[in-house]
Amino acid sequence: MSESNPVLRGLLARIETGQACVGTVGLGYVGLPLAVEFAEGGLRVVGFDRSDAKVAAVNAGDSYIRDVAPERVARLVRAGRLAASGDLDRIAECDAVVICVPTPLSKTKDPDLAMVVEATRAVAARLRPGQIVVLESTTYPGTTEELVLPLLQEGGLEVGESFFLAFSPERVDPGNARFGTRNTPKIIGGTTEGCRLVAQALYARAVETVIPVSSTRTAEMVKLLENTFRSVNIGLVNEVALMCDRLGVDVWEVIEAAATKPFGFMAFYPGPGLGGHCIPVDPLYLSWKLKTLNYRARFIELAGEINSEMPAYVCRRVADALNEQEKSVKGSRILVLGVSYKRDVDDVRESPALDILRLLEKRGARLGYNDPHVPQLELDSSILRSLDLYPAVAEADLVVIVTDHGAYDYPRIVETARLVLDTRNATRGLLSPKILKI
Ligand SMILES: NC(=O)c1ccc[n+]([C@@H]2O[C@H](COP(=O)([O-])OP(=O)(O)OC[C@H]3O[C@@H](n4cnc5c(N)ncnc54)[C@H](O)[C@@H]3O)[C@@H](O)[C@H]2O)c1
Repeated sequence: MSESNPVLRGLLARIETGQACVGTVGLGYVGLPLAVEFAEGGLRVVGFDRSDAKVAAVNAGDSYIRDVAPERVARLVRAGRLAASGDLDRIAECDAVVICVPTPLSKTKDPDLAMVVEATRAVAARLRPGQIVVLESTTYPGTTEELVLPLLQEGGLEVGESFFLAFSPERVDPGNARFGTRNTPKIIGGTTEGCRLVAQALYARAVETVIPVSSTRTAEMVKLLENTFRSVNIGLVNEVALMCDRLGVDVWEVIEAAATKPFGFMAFYPGPGLGGHCIPVDPLYLSWKLKTLNYRARFIELAGEINSEMPAYVCRRVADALNEQEKSVKGSRILVLGVSYKRDVDDVRESPALDILRLLEKRGARLGYNDPHVPQLELDSSILRSLDLYPAVAEADLVVIVTDHGAYDYPRIVETARLVLDTRNATRGLLSPKILKI
């Protein structure tokens, strides 16, 4: 049994008595909140990042992640429980190392695991008996066993005996006031039973509920099921929006009514396209893996196709709306409201607003944007600045609501605007001939 392994018992004891030190490699949207939870859970934490600015901010007791209050970071840094560093040699002092680095797509939309490999190599070079390594980055099933494990074993240490390995997917939902890192149940799969036991004990210090599964591959697949579920359902409801447009039916009214069914229906909403680091990217990790096994992931492909066409659909609706006013897109002033990928966050990664701005620019529109959370925006080679809201709304031939931030006063925006295309039903309840919806 695993408990008879003295290395495992020693590590469990260090975790359970609060002596263990945790290193998080990557201090981004996932790594910083997790580092703070481990530190608040009574462990000493060193957060590693190659960004000097992030390291300096954490050490100065500051936070650059909206969901992590700076006071929490400051309190932990003052108490000596949290520090940041760019010096990966300090991995040697950590009992647990949690890898939270980005997993983007390559130009050909294949998984790009370069940062996972680099971080794993950094850990492997310093791996010593009695450490646990956990991968948190979202990735295809098999990554932990096929890619991470061989690198860690290069030094001759044996998994489950002298070091431990697990996969635990991050489920953070930025901007969610109800569910954060601590109260969102955490899935854990270990390479061996001992690995899972250690990982469970580790995460029990940072999160309220730990859900063990039988393997790292299962844990990897759980995350991809969750995100594929969202992508496919959003794809379905986006297609329903296209159908409703042709049928002359208000898709928002249809969904609202369907959502009154107390069982067997879950409301998803259409929008201008998928955004963020996860939903547009993660299902492609799964379909890529399946391609290597001679299987075509049809739902993922179809949802991806529909979702990625939504920005072009929004632009067609913009052109139609202007046409009705006897105007062309070329030369018209178009104001985009909200450029982050979702409500009340400042993250513009993969935001559909970027595609919409690009498409409208290509057609010669005079573009501007406003976003209370994004003061400036890098679009290809140019930098755009968020305009003063009401003067820009008053000047625009058309206002497109792309992200329905809570800070906007929609009645006032509609009153000030000449024409509004609302892609999020942000103007629900307002009756005005100026409002068009997708
Ligand atoms: N952001 C989310 O909402 C979210 C939710 C669930 C899962 N995830 C997944 O978590 C992972 C991390 O995402 P994120 O949003 O935190 O990314 P992020 O870009 O916010 O942060 C990653 C950090 O890792 C650092 N980094 C990269 N390589 C490094 C290295 N070798 N050594 C030290 N630091 C390094 C970067 O400088 C960056 O600060 C991804 O796989 C993502 O898919 C993200």
